[in-house]
Amino acid sequence: MPRIFSGIQPSGELHIGNYLGAVKNWVELQHEFESIICVVDYHAITGTYEPADLRRRTMEMGISLLAAGIDPAKAVLFVQSRVPEHTELAWIFNTITPVGELERQTQYKEKAGRLESVPAGLLNYPVLQAADILIYKADTVPVGEDQLQHLELSRDTARRWNAKFVEGYFPEPQAKLTQTRRIMGLDGQAKMSKSLGNTIGLLEPPAAVWEKLRPAMTDPARVRKTDPGNPDVCNIYQLHKAFSTPGTVDHVAVQCRSAGWGCIDCKKVLHASMEQELAPIRERAAALQAEPNKVRELLDDGAQRARRIASGTMSEVRQAMGLD
Ligand code: AMP
Ligand code: TRP
Repeated sequence: MPRIFSGIQPSGELHIGNYLGAVKNWVELQHEFESIICVVDYHAITGTYEPADLRRRTMEMGISLLAAGIDPAKAVLFVQSRVPEHTELAWIFNTITPVGELERQTQYKEKAGRLESVPAGLLNYPVLQAADILIYKADTVPVGEDQLQHLELSRDTARRWNAKFVEGYFPEPQAKLTQTRRIMGLDGQAKMSKSLGNTIGLLEPPAAVWEKLRPAMTDPARVRKTDPGNPDVCNIYQLHKAFSTPGTVDHVAVQCRSAGWGCIDCKKVLHASMEQELAPIRERAAALQAEPNKVRELLDDGAQRARRIASGTMSEVRQAMGLD
């Protein structure tokens, strides 16, 4: 059976961009594949942070993932730093990864460009990501489009290690993208991202969601309500495709092109569709927030299951490399 691994940073609340681009896919795939889902706190510390915030956000991310539908009876869900073998394998991969390849990573260039002093961990971030995936010999990695370059590096790493030590040992992991591989932010200008402040949080109450939808960017050419719109260039229409039923999506397109509805009418219908999907997630999250010890137990149990696989890989890797 194919094995899935994916990770998410506890660097902020889960928003509908990572929900639609990645997490929702994980929830569906856990029924078909052996799935391992990780809250990657060691990746999150490559930026500046407060320890107390990280602790809280790691817990919140665990709760959000469970609320979104990750089922610990089906998938292994855990926090990365509880399985220290990830960093052990990352060190080994560091010794076979050319610095030039790391310097060419787009995400690295963007982040490093803004810093006066660049921590080595930021450069080596994708090496740890390769270790996350390969330590479970996962062959399928469901992620958003922004992770494709990192996955290519994971494949290069597998190939390089295999060529040096054991032919065919690590599989070459392939990305699995969703239909909604890139959700744009409410500004319609860039991808939805916590750092750009253009997000809708997965657990935000309905009134707060509406406050964000109401002024959100639509088709820029549609100035007056009587102007016909073009749904294909409208970010709100993209969100309809993600949240509304196919019948509603068709109806929205007709109403937009004929100027039957104004953008506010269209957003009201979107808000109702979002509520359908998000209300049960908010309810489950509230129940989990009331039981932090239960959440901790679930995550600890996930870490134990993950560690059994990871330590098996590490003994084989050590043996192959003369480190036994
Ligand atoms: P991050 O929150 O950056 O750790 O990303 C977690 C997952 O969500 C990754 O698989 C990303 O590719 C995906 N993701 C993040 N933002 C978006 C977005 N705006 N649209 C689609 N996928 C996203
Ligand atoms: N770099 C990924 C992100 O920012 C998070 C991540 C870490 C990841 N390790 C991973 C994703 C392994 C997939 C597989 O979204």
